[in-house]
Amino acid sequence: MAELVLALDQGTTSSRAILFDKAGAIRGTAQHEFRQIFPEASRGGPTGTQGWVEHDPFEILTSQLSAAVEVLGRAGIRPRDVAALGITNQRETAVVWERATGKPVYNAIVWQDRRTAAQCEQLTRDGAEDEVRRRSGLRLDPYFSGTKVAWILDNVAGAREKAERGELAFGTIDSWLIWNLTSGKRHVTDRTNASRTLLYNIVEDRWDDELLRLLRVPRSMMPEVVWSSEALGPVSTTLGLEGIEIAGIAGDQQSALFGQMCTRPGDAKNTYGTGCFLLQHIGDAFRLSEQRLLTTLTCSLERKPEYALEGSVFIGGAVVQWLRDGLGLIQKSSDVEALACSVPDSGGVVFVPAFTGLGAPHWDPYATGTLLGMGRGTTAGHVARAALESIALQVADVLKAMDADTPAPLKELRVDGGATANDTLMQFQADLLQVPVVRPACLETTAMGAAYLAGIATGVWGGLESIQQEQVPGTRFEPRDRQSTDKLYARWQKAVERAKGWNA
Ligand code: G3P
Repeated sequence: MAELVLALDQGTTSSRAILFDKAGAIRGTAQHEFRQIFPEASRGGPTGTQGWVEHDPFEILTSQLSAAVEVLGRAGIRPRDVAALGITNQRETAVVWERATGKPVYNAIVWQDRRTAAQCEQLTRDGAEDEVRRRSGLRLDPYFSGTKVAWILDNVAGAREKAERGELAFGTIDSWLIWNLTSGKRHVTDRTNASRTLLYNIVEDRWDDELLRLLRVPRSMMPEVVWSSEALGPVSTTLGLEGIEIAGIAGDQQSALFGQMCTRPGDAKNTYGTGCFLLQHIGDAFRLSEQRLLTTLTCSLERKPEYALEGSVFIGGAVVQWLRDGLGLIQKSSDVEALACSVPDSGGVVFVPAFTGLGAPHWDPYATGTLLGMGRGTTAGHVARAALESIALQVADVLKAMDADTPAPLKELRVDGGATANDTLMQFQADLLQVPVVRPACLETTAMGAAYLAGIATGVWGGLESIQQEQVPGTRFEPRDRQSTDKLYARWQKAVERAKGWNA
């Protein structure tokens, strides 16, 4: 039997394909970036479009397919040598397409997009928030898919009528990819992705008619909901992947949670991607946060809902991208460590990178990026250091909330994602949190999670135990004296208050 598993990791800024073997070793990777579309008024978009972020669904598709074909081609592997395909994806990003033609009626509205802030506020004023939380585990924030779908139906000519007639389909990126990979035969999503839409009842494990009515999204648009580890049928396109069994789906943060083997209550991980996402498994009993965190579904092999508390930070690694592309302070992202280490500390500079508002635990869609504490002696090094520190400081805000919300404080934090390669950041994170930070040997835990889910469904791996035996220990960053970070954290908290509400 073929013992290779292909994982597609469709992220916010790039589409990646990673080929794993049964030992969990990486046999090849390919990555293709695609356009970030900011239709701001200054660039010819409609007025009042600050905070809009879109992707072209076909660019997502083609970048993802070409990465997949490239990785197989380079490794000299034919589709029939691949046992299974797992898909993990940026979550919440909403695509609406015509069932008959497969053509999207509008660009994908990205999770970071803030255009529906006013609608969310109105729903909150109308008193809907409590009911929404009790059913979906989420908050009324533009982050989630539901209000984005309604926006498309309200703003694209004829879309609402077509949707009412059952002619349109909605999907997060997993649904969009699988629809295309199966030539429109399967319109599915898994529970982890469904749980990010605002439309799924995570207590009763079904699309919620009340929430669909509240957000004015027709039920007929919704995909069928499947388990994260389940054989769904073969790829049927003739694009070089034909015949590979699609057998795993998970939103990228839940996939990373699974890839880190955080499958028991109390296990937690933080992923440093475009944003930062800290998830702690809380078992099979639904519970709402009292600290403005989210409750969300995890990948369950037991075929019963299991939950995590999540703190979502919108800008994590993306702050380094901004230093590179927005300010031109560095040429490539990896240069940030050297620039930040060119100074002993941030020299009093505090940077709140609230470019797309603030997520957990603050939830302020009107906060903006804020740079404070500069003097004439401030250098690019200080700004770079403050930017790096801001990543860890935001994670500290979330961990504080998480600890207040769970019966026992966290014993260690498992980490993954691009920025974890940065030792300075990881040590600073451990100092700030005062808990050990553990980095796995393989940093590709998001893709690994999807590969495991697909491989378990198709018999490549027997189950969790066989995978755990294979895992290689990683690096542990032990916390040092907390005095130096206490002062910094107090200053950070003041700066966050200044950033809030700026765009209201
Ligand atoms: O919720 C958004 C998240 O899924 C995006 O992940 O890795 O693309 O930053 P990433």
